[in-house]
Amino acid sequence: MANSVLVLGTQWGDEGKGKIVDVLTEQASLVVRFQGGHNAGHTLVIGEEKTVLHLVPSGVLRENVTCVIGNGVVVSPEALFKEIDMLKERGVPVEDRLRISGACPLILPYHIALDQAREKAAGRHAIGTTGRGIGPAYEDKVARRAVRVQDLLSLERFDEKIDVACAYHNATLVGHGMEAVDAEAIKREARIQAERLAPLIADIPGLIDEHRKAGNRIMFEGAQGTLLDVDHGTYPFVTSSNTVAGAACSGSGCGPGTIDYVLGITKAYTTRVGAGPFPTELFDSVGEVLGERGNEFGATTGRQRRCGWYDAVAVKRASILNGITGICLTKLDVMDTLETIQVCVAYELDGKTIDHPPIGADEFARCTPVYESMPGWQANTAGITDMQALPELAQKYIARLEELTGVPIHLVSTGPERNENVVIQWPFGG
Ligand code: GDP
Ligand code: IMO
Ligand code: MG
Repeated sequence: MANSVLVLGTQWGDEGKGKIVDVLTEQASLVVRFQGGHNAGHTLVIGEEKTVLHLVPSGVLRENVTCVIGNGVVVSPEALFKEIDMLKERGVPVEDRLRISGACPLILPYHIALDQAREKAAGRHAIGTTGRGIGPAYEDKVARRAVRVQDLLSLERFDEKIDVACAYHNATLVGHGMEAVDAEAIKREARIQAERLAPLIADIPGLIDEHRKAGNRIMFEGAQGTLLDVDHGTYPFVTSSNTVAGAACSGSGCGPGTIDYVLGITKAYTTRVGAGPFPTELFDSVGEVLGERGNEFGATTGRQRRCGWYDAVAVKRASILNGITGICLTKLDVMDTLETIQVCVAYELDGKTIDHPPIGADEFARCTPVYESMPGWQANTAGITDMQALPELAQKYIARLEELTGVPIHLVSTGPERNENVVIQWPFGG
């Protein structure tokens, strides 16, 4: 039986992580975000109400849960307060449930300006970032010039750091023909932000350890997806953090032994937002059907997601990179009308067949998929909660994906709503 479950995406993001974290936190007492920032968009549907979260962990709608933003997350105070206010308006007492690490690097106005300026300058080579300042904020962290959440507790020192950072970054911004950011405005904002943030700052490694020792159930919530990992993804068309399972430890402050079970969230087909290679991408009416039935529009930027067939090469690699225990297959219902389904089982690269993704985007972009064809079930699966009630061909599809990736499918999601799931095995057991 697992006491801690790590939920992460095995594709290019938007696999349905938020929904599943919300489902599983019924059984947990702590939910920890450990990387990314408000580039994430995690959607929770409870009855008629839809909630999109960007920074606040997807356990926040549960009374029994403490939500944690770990040191690996880059935090925009402005985005965080906007989200907290949205939740409070709906009657969710966020401040009682949320704790944040003092070591989180802050996303400040110059990061956002830099992100957008660079994307604009890159023209057709742009990455298609979310424009939230994520990359520049992580750069500052690694360059050891980040201003962190903890710095808000000592405003004199904060001001000095802001002066240094603005002098440094404004030179670049002006070089890009952009307006310099106003250091004084950042300092003024910080007075208000510090007051709101201070009560939320906590010793996160200590908190996780306490829960672990008490035998409480802990969830770790990944953002983005494995193929957007800065090391293992389709570099440079990736995000700027490690999204793989290993990052849960460094991004929150616990050891690898703390994680008992890794749940890979995997869409029954594939989507991607932004630029970069995507071997199984569809440009025909099937792609349109997936996009329409799956409502494939970014939860953060509203951009249309690119859609394609299931890529077993990619998911198999994700299973290795993350040490996946079990998979939750999501959005099966979106494929209900398809007559024929293709599954990518290998790539062809420069005349050779390969069974693993190449390193880097250039080779990845030259890969063409080798497909295996399966008949579609052409029957309703939406809302089904019992494996035996699924059409036989849908069961066959699930079994084939399991075989191809070599990882058991423990959950199948058949709709956006909290209780639309086929449970084969609960990750927490029981
Ligand atoms: P995340 O970033 O991984 O949390 O995923 P997003 O929330 O960005 O995108 C997933 C979208 O699919 C959301 O709109 C969910 O409400 C929706 N969704 C999740 N699971 C299912 C499912 O099984 N079927 C359908 N039709 N929609 C789902
Ligand atoms: P969730 O957690 C899908 C993509 C962007 C872009 C690249 C880099 O909802 O699955 P960034 O702003 O991070 O520097 O952009 O990563 N991206 C995501 N795509 N889902 C996400 O998050 C994403 N977060 C970033 O579209 O291609
Ligand atoms: Mg998303």
